[in-house]
Amino acid sequence: MINLKQIRADFQEIYNHEPRLFQAPGRVNLIGEHTDYNGGFVLPMAIEYATTVAAAPREDRKIRVRSVNLNEEGEIDLDAPEQKLRGSWIDYVEGVARILERQNAKLRGADLLIASDVPTGAGLSSSAALEISVGLALSEISGYTVEKVKLALIGQAAEHEFVGAKVGIMDQFVSAMGKKGHALLIDCRELKAKQVPLDTKDVVIVICNSNVKHELASSEYNTRRAECEKGVEILRKFLPDITQLRDVTIEDFERYKVHLPEIIKKRCRHVVAENARTLAATEALGKSHLKEFGRLMWLSHASLRDDYEVSCKELDLLVSIAADCEGVLGARMTGGGFGGSTVNLVRHENLNNFRKKTSTEYERQTNIKTDIYVSGAAEGAREVFNGEI
Ligand code: GLA
Repeated sequence: MINLKQIRADFQEIYNHEPRLFQAPGRVNLIGEHTDYNGGFVLPMAIEYATTVAAAPREDRKIRVRSVNLNEEGEIDLDAPEQKLRGSWIDYVEGVARILERQNAKLRGADLLIASDVPTGAGLSSSAALEISVGLALSEISGYTVEKVKLALIGQAAEHEFVGAKVGIMDQFVSAMGKKGHALLIDCRELKAKQVPLDTKDVVIVICNSNVKHELASSEYNTRRAECEKGVEILRKFLPDITQLRDVTIEDFERYKVHLPEIIKKRCRHVVAENARTLAATEALGKSHLKEFGRLMWLSHASLRDDYEVSCKELDLLVSIAADCEGVLGARMTGGGFGGSTVNLVRHENLNNFRKKTSTEYERQTNIKTDIYVSGAAEGAREVFNGEI
């Protein structure tokens, strides 16, 4: 938990004036993986780990920014030419500021102090939390209120152009619009979401960080996107109305799959089935059919491992340890893959045993420690302090 009094005091000491404080959370995706950039459905929730930005306007057009976690600082001059792809966290800040300005928000200069307890490299969207918290802070202290969906799109555009990662919209959307106690069923084409109450009477959501992040992650992500587009291009010969894999039903896929090359067929099968699983899982959650929800999580993992091929041995190991623990209703990798975390649905009474068994077994077999987090569904981006504590 970030200590708001501390970050306010640190800000006052560094910059000599009073900040407002803004926060945006990381996320865990319960189901619906690699469907967002195919126009499909995802079911993430915001987590109780967030990035906090202390911010105050300046009289000039400079953004001075400091990261508490990294103990680094940077400066951006909004009147100087844009800089991008430096390969540093400043790219996220500059990207969000520049894209906001392109959307007709004339920004004031700003002093920013950033602190985060979202684990980085864990597949829990520390990047989206940074983009959304900075976007909210910069716009609000300049006197603009940007609609949350727009804020999400600005974060995504910043990541595409200034960071060079062609991500979908899920992470930014749920970081901006998450709802306490709820998962969000997001229709990634329509950019609309339905809040689904998360029934945690009997179960908790547990995140296990594999603490590995394989090099492949970003290049393979882009390859998967291209493979999905190729699939659409071929299937369109038979289904002229489709524009994205979202439009392909399981029946359509079964009928026309013979025309797809082997690899493309596997990628498409994952996306088409994952979309159906996400809708089925949402329905199950709505009825508190948690066993059914868990069953769909296991299937999702198998499909990501075998058809989409974005898992890795460490994630597979965490899922197989979970499968051997009592009281685990479902487990799967979450996020882009090739490392990062798994998400697990665990009965309250089995939580301690799950923790113990997972940490011991994972370390025994890999020599790597896992970090385990339990999180409820948290609220999305918001101002958390404005002059009064
Ligand atoms: C990353 C991306 C998301 C989404 C997931 C996979 O987290 O940022 O947009 O594509 O991978 O579901």
